[in-house]
Amino acid sequence: MTRVRRKVAVVLAVTAVLAVSACSSGTSTTPAKSGAGNTKDVEVFTWWAAGGEKAGLDGMISVFNKTCSQYTFVNAAVAGGGGDKAKTLLANNLKAGNAPSSFQAHAGGELSDYIANGQVEDITAVFKAAGLDTAFPKELLDQITVAGKVYSVPADIHRANMVWVNPVVLKKAKLDPAKAPATVKDWIADLAKLKAAGVATPLALSKGFAEEMLLESTLLGDLGVEKFNGLYDGSTKWDGADVTAALGDFKALVSYSNADRETMDWDAAMSKYLMPTDPATATGGYQLMGDWVPAQLVSLKMPESSYMYWPAPGTDGVYQWLSDSFTLPKGGTNPEGAKCWLKVVGSAEGQKAFNLVKGSIPARSDATSEGYPKYQQWAMAQWKASKLAPSLAHGSAGPGAWNNDVQTAMSAFSANPDVATLQTTLVAAAGKYSNWRKTLG
Ligand code: BGC
Repeated sequence: MTRVRRKVAVVLAVTAVLAVSACSSGTSTTPAKSGAGNTKDVEVFTWWAAGGEKAGLDGMISVFNKTCSQYTFVNAAVAGGGGDKAKTLLANNLKAGNAPSSFQAHAGGELSDYIANGQVEDITAVFKAAGLDTAFPKELLDQITVAGKVYSVPADIHRANMVWVNPVVLKKAKLDPAKAPATVKDWIADLAKLKAAGVATPLALSKGFAEEMLLESTLLGDLGVEKFNGLYDGSTKWDGADVTAALGDFKALVSYSNADRETMDWDAAMSKYLMPTDPATATGGYQLMGDWVPAQLVSLKMPESSYMYWPAPGTDGVYQWLSDSFTLPKGGTNPEGAKCWLKVVGSAEGQKAFNLVKGSIPARSDATSEGYPKYQQWAMAQWKASKLAPSLAHGSAGPGAWNNDVQTAMSAFSANPDVATLQTTLVAAAGKYSNWRKTLG
């Protein structure tokens, strides 16, 4: 297999830096759910509150209701793409000793925060009892294991480096929507053509994690996978001339996006610019977003023929992966019920019910593509054949505190797109956090 096998097992001897929670700012906590305290309730915390994300969660819940019928599912989802609001609330709740029965965490760096803070239980026994120790690819097991102890159950694999295309809009500039530009520079040239053809928003963009995804895919496309991966283990310097050039390209990409990007989440930008109710009236040509998009478009009843997709320019053959997983929090409500939930999350049936409608592919290695929509069938083949790169925006590449620093830099850049200032901030963030893997076993 040609994959870059990134050994990013989660840290055991974690540094104080890693112990900084992903969401240390803010003090609000979610109120205890009305059912909390009822021994039957299994309170599950996610950010899958609407659209395709809720549909995926509902699929998993339907299997839970059957398999764990002695328990009652309590949905503690908090809306906000990428978990921006949810992760802050969760951090505060965990600090306040108000843990749910189980919560969503990305495998990799993000999970390491919770392990470092002593907020999640070792679930190796649950894992083994459910026969999960042989169910997942080794690369993924490495992301949830510390010194032989497992800390979460992966539900899915998503891909971050994807561009979604409105073919009707692209045709206005005589661009072939099925053909991805080969490089980031070629993409910028196509964006210029769209603008010249009178397209108002060549690139639909939204705040926070979406800007960070665009930044990461530009770096990945310009630097190539090996150098990109090196940004997260210290072997590629963030102050290099190649990074400066990529940041220049990022600036050019952002210049073709909607001015109101800081006011909206990814799904709102999609509905406003790329895929309005009638996609033929769209004013947006492209949107870079993870592959939760097809599920969202299904939930909006958009036919598959209304959009196209390809890996972000320059990143073909690379799967920038992330994985949603579920934990057993220390001091959480109803640990026995939570274990039943974790078994469902890891089961073939649970993963199928979830992934079929979430846009992601099953984390289990024994899953087949039978019955999946066209996008996921393609994604499963890509996952097997591609090199791997992690995502900081979605927790696989590094700790939450690093992600927070980059997201802060994104909103500053959006207001004042100065490449030198951005690079200085990125260098400083990497200086604080890029050592995190060196302490790994
Ligand atoms: C999660 C996905 C989710 C996306 C948008 C990502 O961080 O891994 O499951 O669909 O955020 O909210």
